[in-house]
Amino acid sequence: MTRTLRNALLGAAFGLALTAGSAGAATIKVGVVAPFSGPFALVGKTFKEAIEVYQAEHGKTVGNDTVEFVYKDLDQANPAQSKALSQELIVKEKVGYLAGYFFTPDALAVAPLIDEANIPCVIFNAATSAITEKSPRYVRTSFTLWQNTVPLAEYMAKQGIKKVVTAVSDYGPGIDGETAFKATFEKNGGTVVDTIRMPLKSNDFAPFMQRIKDAGAEAIYAFLPAGPTTLAFAKSFSDNGLKAAGIKFFGPGDITQEPDLPALGDAALGITTTFNYSRVHDSAMNKAFLAKHKEMFGSTDTVTFTSVGAYDGAHVIYQMIKNTGGKSDGAKAVESVKGMSWESPRGPLTIDPNSRHVTQTIYLRTVEPVDGKLENVEKAAFANQPDYGYKVGK
Ligand code: PHB
Repeated sequence: MTRTLRNALLGAAFGLALTAGSAGAATIKVGVVAPFSGPFALVGKTFKEAIEVYQAEHGKTVGNDTVEFVYKDLDQANPAQSKALSQELIVKEKVGYLAGYFFTPDALAVAPLIDEANIPCVIFNAATSAITEKSPRYVRTSFTLWQNTVPLAEYMAKQGIKKVVTAVSDYGPGIDGETAFKATFEKNGGTVVDTIRMPLKSNDFAPFMQRIKDAGAEAIYAFLPAGPTTLAFAKSFSDNGLKAAGIKFFGPGDITQEPDLPALGDAALGITTTFNYSRVHDSAMNKAFLAKHKEMFGSTDTVTFTSVGAYDGAHVIYQMIKNTGGKSDGAKAVESVKGMSWESPRGPLTIDPNSRHVTQTIYLRTVEPVDGKLENVEKAAFANQPDYGYKVGK
């Protein structure tokens, strides 16, 4: 036998072991779909960095198996492209798990694929409640708009605020935020005086600012996907004089994600949000996470909510691999993490067995300077918040 032929056969046999999930050592691939280019490229970077921190801390093997993450770039909300990339990961890369997904439409698009291939999909971000209802293979480690908004609306009502305008991006999570806010705030005695829905791709917010002024509200509740969108909206709020006019600014913490705070500057000061993670969350585990991140990447400037979505998502995937002994069985893998609880850099987490979404502490925060840097400083904590939007209206 020639050396080349023998190597080719060995290669093929080895390849078989990799995909068959045999008792021997295998490589289990996890496909991660996220923006790595374009305006939301920071998201992919935060996912990848957090996964690398997790693997540096926990190793790259589970039992006999090596866990390898494979990344695909999806620069925007594009469900057809999301489906094509995910299919390629399943068919060509033979991934055993799918993960990532920043935008709701991109996560929703893979439901038929994960059902058919019996593959778990661990969502690191996409935050519309209905997603996990579309397939029993979804597990989510981020947050939902309902989860952040219910405690925020209750808090605002308790502060004596009576009239609010909601301003949201006109798609899944925005509509969830608007619905959750209106229902909760009005139940608690407030009035939503206008509901503004802005196209997902808006970048000129001046007309919306005029509408907010005209509504005569004391405060706004705003949701847009974190990134250039939130940055432009928050700057516009300040530049168009709404901040100076004393209108108070509230929303889920997407609007004050840490990497954007230096660019927002004074416009960020005083914005009050509810969210699942602040970079300055005071816990030993968060300090260890930040220290490892700094050691590996030189700074913690990119660390934000998408970092912990991926870090905890990697943890869930590792547990699924462990619980199934490395065998490819999506139904069993998902079943095995229902009810799982663990400590995260953001606080305690539990996977709700019904919604397959994390129950977690939601923090009330205000942007303030800390050691010369703007941060989301936690002011109150609301423990054990579920996804209030799961099966609402069903
Ligand atoms: C979503 O599309 O679900 C989404 C995107 C960005 C966010 C939050 C939710 O910051």
